[in-house]
Amino acid sequence: SKGTYDHYMLKEIDEQPNVMRKISKNYINDDGSLNVEQDLLDEIKQADRLYIVAAGTSYHAGLVGRNIFEKIADVPVDVELGSEFGYHMPKLSKKPFFIFLSQSGETADSRQVLVKVNEMKLPSLTMTNVANSTLSREATYTMELLAGPEIAVASTKAYTAQIAVEAVLAKALGEAKDLQIAKEFNLKEQLALAANGIQTIVDEKDKIKKLTADYLTNKSDAFYIGRGVDYALSLEAALKLKEISYIHAEGFAAGELKHGTIALIEKDTPVFAYVNDGIGASHTRGNIQEVEARGAHVLVIASQKYAEAGDQIIIPEIDELISPIISIVPAQLIAYYASLARGNDVDKPRNLAKSVTVE
Ligand code: M6R
Repeated sequence: SKGTYDHYMLKEIDEQPNVMRKISKNYINDDGSLNVEQDLLDEIKQADRLYIVAAGTSYHAGLVGRNIFEKIADVPVDVELGSEFGYHMPKLSKKPFFIFLSQSGETADSRQVLVKVNEMKLPSLTMTNVANSTLSREATYTMELLAGPEIAVASTKAYTAQIAVEAVLAKALGEAKDLQIAKEFNLKEQLALAANGIQTIVDEKDKIKKLTADYLTNKSDAFYIGRGVDYALSLEAALKLKEISYIHAEGFAAGELKHGTIALIEKDTPVFAYVNDGIGASHTRGNIQEVEARGAHVLVIASQKYAEAGDQIIIPEIDELISPIISIVPAQLIAYYASLARGNDVDKPRNLAKSVTVE
């Protein structure tokens, strides 16, 4: 039930610190070892490439996961939309391993890929919030997201749970390969930082509500920009805003603006700029100046490390690789308050269903 909340979405946003603690407790043993099926590790260790297949928000969680697997487990990763990949399957690597990300475990676009993967007798894992879902039953292995039922159509806690569970698997795989970087990645500490960091952001609701009114009232377009990990995050931030506020929003690689999209910037165009990515930070600052010079109304969301005077939302400390777990939360809240201000049905946006069971 919604309890004291007006909407499931806000309740689910607020549950995220607990979801992080639950994932930590269930997947990390007291001695620091990880609770991941040995058969799964033995099999995924053989893979020369991981193929992450998903849709919507889960696809965006896959884009964040790619980085984590490549850095911590030293394996190349392709992230694919089920609706594209199934019908235009590229030439696969010699030893592919498929990971299906799906909150519901029922998404038809992802399932049709799994059917083909099974026909080819290739190994697969489904990461899902619903243990006995179709994708879970039909894949070789399952890892649960442990986010608890997600009712609002706009996915929030499943996204952050997916990133956390991808990090669990990446670390387990890296350790199985005896990689130093995996052993040194202190996931227990990171998930604790994630829980506390999300809490800090959700405690700033009033401030974020005001910023939303300030930046988005009567606006019909908005941009999220960032580089690296923040680019992946921008895609999810923009999807949240479009799907429940119906404001046209785009997530953009900050460096791509000047290759076309900057033509859309006018006086007062809202631009939400993320500065959490260490390598990209100074270049993104440059892009912020470029859009400001053309009149954009820029709100900067920066990690403590890269924050500057005037930045309006600060992301508490966390490893960059999993930073979207915290940095998505302001965007979830911005979408929520924008939707609310427009009088939309926050939990059941027009034209959308919670699980999409048609291709
Ligand atoms: O259940 P799934 O994770 O497979 O669903 C995939 C998408 O349909 C889903 O993430 C959708 O994009 C959400 N409404 C986004 O908030």
